[in-house]
Amino acid sequence: MKKVITYGTYDLLHQGHINLLRRAKELGDFLIVGVTNDSFDRDRGKLNVRNNVLERVEAVKATGYADQIIIEDYVGQKIDDIQKYNVDIFAIGSDWEGKFDYLKEYCEVVYLPRTEGISSTMLRNESQDVIRVGIIGCGRVAERFPSEADVVNGINVCAAYDINPDATKALINKGNDKIISYDHLDEFYQAVDAVYVATPHLAHYSCIKEALERKKHVLCETPMLLNGDQAKELYRLAEQQGVILMEANKTAHCPAFNHLMVLIKSGLIGEVVDIEASLSQLLDKNGREFDPNQAGGALFEQGSYPLLPIFKLMGIEYQNIDLYSRMENGIDIYTRGVLRYENASCSFKVGLGVKTEGNLVISGTKGYAYVPAPWWLTDYFELRYEDQNQNKKFFYKWDGYGLRYEIQEFISCILNKRFSSVRLRRRESIQMAMVMQQFIERNNFFEI
Ligand code: CTP
Repeated sequence: MKKVITYGTYDLLHQGHINLLRRAKELGDFLIVGVTNDSFDRDRGKLNVRNNVLERVEAVKATGYADQIIIEDYVGQKIDDIQKYNVDIFAIGSDWEGKFDYLKEYCEVVYLPRTEGISSTMLRNESQDVIRVGIIGCGRVAERFPSEADVVNGINVCAAYDINPDATKALINKGNDKIISYDHLDEFYQAVDAVYVATPHLAHYSCIKEALERKKHVLCETPMLLNGDQAKELYRLAEQQGVILMEANKTAHCPAFNHLMVLIKSGLIGEVVDIEASLSQLLDKNGREFDPNQAGGALFEQGSYPLLPIFKLMGIEYQNIDLYSRMENGIDIYTRGVLRYENASCSFKVGLGVKTEGNLVISGTKGYAYVPAPWWLTDYFELRYEDQNQNKKFFYKWDGYGLRYEIQEFISCILNKRFSSVRLRRRESIQMAMVMQQFIERNNFFEI
């Protein structure tokens, strides 16, 4: 019996897939189809796959060509499968011509003609409106946005606005010539469905409010707001207007961080009783980050990152937070926060003028999670136990600047009308703004 194997994502199953499966089946007597797992697709940069793996398996089954369906989970699995299932022929579409020649050592490799004029990418793009996004605030932070948005389906970054027209021009000159620069906000807003706000912190509130009033979706850089009431007001306004408001906190969307949260919530280190999260970056003291008039300082710049794992794992119902800050020229160059919960205590350190070890340690009754610096961009972590033989290391892929994951979630929230993302809930984002407000009001604040 001649065995054939082929692999694919088979998202939004289409005629091209059906033709390919028929041709593959015709090559032998028994066809094995490998369907990629959701996390494997994400790891290899295939974002925005619409159907989940179970739906895709069902779709392949419904074609009637597959005698066996397996799941593809990891790089290198094809070689294992070919040997495990005694495969005679590996078949794949001609768009992969030459790419799988390395399998010739194990079986015959056949590149089948690809059906012209159709692909999952095309269907995904057709089946959804492409969201037109404009950038407001074209400084350093915004620079990475267009190239990251390029790898996400369903978004077209088409417009830019800055109170300083030179900043907009500089952004466009950095290879972003498809973006149109606008001098007037009225025209800018006519050209977009959504905005990415990357202005200095203090301009966020008015920018977001204006965009929401014009019924535009908003993705705003972190910290979105420095006042809890303003955060509540704007999330409420977004829902009233039927648009999405999301805080752009890239750690929240990072695949490794998300998996770590899931593992800990499923009890792998027992009950969590302590979280310590730190990050620091020594910056040029002439920069905006040191200017009290532009809401500089370590807590505003960095605080929303360590608060993220604390709020995600322990919730927002803490009893109190004490803030210990070293102040210099009107800003905190270092802040340590201590949060007391009923059954846990958590602490964080942030520094612009004080250097700390930047790791994340989550301590539980059965073991602890250790995420080395820079944990906020993590691609690796360990779960450690008393019995070291049980220790486990986890590795992930982190693509580009990492903004693509939050952009993808933003687009998905817009298309599915989800007002709150599980990755960073509205209540967590509001609570972050509350902590900033507590600092401004100097409540439970101690200068050191
Ligand atoms: N395929 C094909 N003809 C098409 C599209 C896909 O023969 N028009 C083949 C691919 O070459 C591959 C299999 O179908 O062997 C599964 O491909 P997959 O990547 O799932 O489909 P695409 O439509 O190419 O997906 P995407 O646009 O996301 O890359």
